[in-house]
Amino acid sequence: MAIYAIWNNKGNVGKSYLTFQIASEYAKTHPLQKILVIDLCPQAKASGMLLGGMIEGEKRLEQLGSQMPRQTIAGYIADRIISPYVNPKTGTSYLINVTPYNQYIPDNLYLVSGDEQLEVQASRVASATHSGQPEAWSIVHTWISDLIADVKNAWNQEDMTVFLDCNPSFSIYTELALLASNRLIIPFSADVSSKRAVKAVLSLLYGIARYPEAPQSEFYLNSHSFNLNIPEIYCYVGNRLTPEVKSVKAFKTIVSEIGEEIWSVWQNHKNGFRIHPAGAPVPTNRTDFNQMFQAVVDVNTASVVSSALGIPLIRLTAGIKQVSGKNVTVNPKQLSKQQANIQDLVSKIE
Ligand SMILES: Nc1ncnc2c1ncn2[C@@H]1O[C@H](COP(=O)(O)OP(=O)(O)OP(=O)(O)O)[C@@H](O)[C@H]1O
Ligand SMILES: [Mg+2]
Repeated sequence: MAIYAIWNNKGNVGKSYLTFQIASEYAKTHPLQKILVIDLCPQAKASGMLLGGMIEGEKRLEQLGSQMPRQTIAGYIADRIISPYVNPKTGTSYLINVTPYNQYIPDNLYLVSGDEQLEVQASRVASATHSGQPEAWSIVHTWISDLIADVKNAWNQEDMTVFLDCNPSFSIYTELALLASNRLIIPFSADVSSKRAVKAVLSLLYGIARYPEAPQSEFYLNSHSFNLNIPEIYCYVGNRLTPEVKSVKAFKTIVSEIGEEIWSVWQNHKNGFRIHPAGAPVPTNRTDFNQMFQAVVDVNTASVVSSALGIPLIRLTAGIKQVSGKNVTVNPKQLSKQQANIQDLVSKIE
């Protein structure tokens, strides 16, 4: 089963936006599969978009969080905090089919929604990893794998694909998500901190030192000692790489520097990458590498309207739309450009 984590420890690079678009497009192009999105972020932005966008999505999130138990990831985590080392197998209780909330989402897409309550629970989850119980770290770090297993069992082993939206910081939830996943999609944008993040991801996840004698992350060391699998890099997605008029040169320079950084990651760490599609030859030059491991996603009015209204690009139509009480025009050219970006990206996802 393919389980994709969408993560970069740089904030605001489009992790949640891409989770929303990719999962929706993937659900549409794989109608015989069930698609599970787990939102492991307290901001719950991917859930907000899937549940109908800025206004409607937020209201629905409130409703899910006001039920007892909460119909969100925080409901599941609460069960696990009560019973950290014995799996209560309650994962499916927190799963919702999204279509009744948002008719624009394909009906094979299911969500365990994000929840701000995760912030409150985080310290309890972290203490459960250090309880003195010999396997504590490892058991707690498989809570999300357990949740996925609960859903898989309930779905009677049907074909399924999972997308996990992650928090930017390397928090306990990010660790749980990464260890539940087997493939990593890394969005980045055109700024210096994105460039730094390309290296940071490597050192946090794969223990690759950024300078001599740099300490390795506890995550890396423990994953190894408990024999837990770390996801393979599946692709880098350059998001919003359209240059702003005033700083085209600076913008292009940073995009090309990030390209160099990613290329050097590949050259020094080929084992950490997932060759795809299955059976494809290992890239031997930069063009083939970029084709396999890089994608670009743009921004324009169509994509902004899509995320604001919670209508995935595949289902958005051109014309005048109401966004926060204002009329906004989505023109057909902008829309088809954005749709092509997402289709191209999803066509690379197995
Ligand atoms: N390609 C895009 N087109 C239109 N809007 C976008 C695009 N990418 C991101 N956005 C918007 O930019 C904002 C930041 O994106 P998003 O929330 O997805 O980033 P993130 O990496 O998940 O952030 P965080 O680190 O806070 O979780 C959101 O309002 C999102 O809808
Ligand atoms: Mg996010």
